[in-house]
Amino acid sequence: MSGEAILPPDVAREVIDPHAYAEWNGLLDTFDRLRQESPVALVKPEDGELFDPFWLVTRYDDVMRLSKDNKTFLNNPRPVVFSFRQAIEFSRQATGSDMLVDSLVVFDAPIHPKYRRLTQDWFMPRNLAKMEAEIRNIAEATVDRLVAAGSEADFVKLVSGPYPLHVVMQILGVPEEDEPRMQMLTQQLFGGQDADLSGTGMENMSPEQVVQLVAGAVKTFEGYFAELAAQRRANPTDDVASVIANATVDGEPLPERDMAGYYIIVATAGHDTTSASTAGAMMALAQDPEQWARVRADRSLLPGIVEEAIRWTTPVQHFMRTAAEDVEVGGQQVKKGDWLMLNYVSANHDPSQFDDPRRFDAARSPNRHLAFGAGAHQCLGLHLARMEMKILFETLLDRIETIELAGEPKRATSTFVGGLKTLPVRFKAA
Ligand code: HEM
Repeated sequence: MSGEAILPPDVAREVIDPHAYAEWNGLLDTFDRLRQESPVALVKPEDGELFDPFWLVTRYDDVMRLSKDNKTFLNNPRPVVFSFRQAIEFSRQATGSDMLVDSLVVFDAPIHPKYRRLTQDWFMPRNLAKMEAEIRNIAEATVDRLVAAGSEADFVKLVSGPYPLHVVMQILGVPEEDEPRMQMLTQQLFGGQDADLSGTGMENMSPEQVVQLVAGAVKTFEGYFAELAAQRRANPTDDVASVIANATVDGEPLPERDMAGYYIIVATAGHDTTSASTAGAMMALAQDPEQWARVRADRSLLPGIVEEAIRWTTPVQHFMRTAAEDVEVGGQQVKKGDWLMLNYVSANHDPSQFDDPRRFDAARSPNRHLAFGAGAHQCLGLHLARMEMKILFETLLDRIETIELAGEPKRATSTFVGGLKTLPVRFKAA
């Protein structure tokens, strides 16, 4: 492979280092340089035992093009980068597939559109409107807890963490007492790189131990959702759990493994992501207390704030694709079977698309960010995420008169789903 842009080892190390994502600004500087000098470059981790090499794609236009070309750039078999080699081997032995969980994000056409269609309507605004009163109740109860805390609190712990988890568990029909278990399982699947969040000491484990732990988490999830599906088949309701339990594809009910995968992707994709964008929105507003007063007075500013917070935080930091054929990307010859990283953090900070991209600009327009991806796999829950954030902030604006930072916010160490893990705020109830 000659003439390839290969990232120097120190840069390669940085772009796969979860701590770099926790520090953020240094990483954004690196992406600024890469978009200029080497917008598509091969990452060959020095510890070649862990990951296969992949092409890092950093420019907005390239990430958009690859996202929309679902024929050439496939999700299957490995749509995320922390599917390191041992995980793949283990998974192949245990399940016959490269991933421990098969779900929408692992499927390509022709299976993907058939599965996606099953719940697509349920996640559209018209159906979600039926959930509004319920979500508003959850938002009220969440803000009750914040107000009860007095005048200072960790916004992540009290508000942005539990609220989206509660909403998504509600739409899946998971009883409240099981929520901590679901939270823990999600962390094990997605956020295991952060010692404060995983609660498992995963960051000190060998890759083999991590895979065993995650496989155990998946088994627990599968058992749990098999029971839930049986209940929903016996007594269907109008929640999404019932839609999945009673779905058929080509006239057949979903195989057990696919059904569990469907529940798992909705359960896990739906909360840490929205938690991160919600915390980010609050951070931006708390950094500029006058802005809080402005939005309290003029609620028409809220949708712009929600959208900008989603871009500014970019909670899902990447997804991966595999080339179905030899193809040129950003001047580089990508071979059939090569692995590519769509880096949404970099794409959403590309100045060719966003003026002054590191600035939180509540009035940014247009704001065609890539935080929800694009193309066939574009986030299924994007309307729900926006709606949840809007309802929560409406409730907060009603009930909190002033709010400001009360300490240093801290980001999670994670290469995949990332965002704030603490956000100390000082506030005065209205
Ligand atoms: C897929 C981001 C909230 C469910 C995705 C993708 C991204 C993303 C980047 C992959 C897109 C691609 O490959 O082109 C986000 C962000 C959220 C959020 C930033 C919050 C701010 C949610 C919620 C749910 C959800 C609330 C559901 C309850 C899903 C599902 C997929 C997905 C099921 C897989 C779709 C497919 O492969 O067809 N999301 N998401 N997400 N998201 Fe979200």
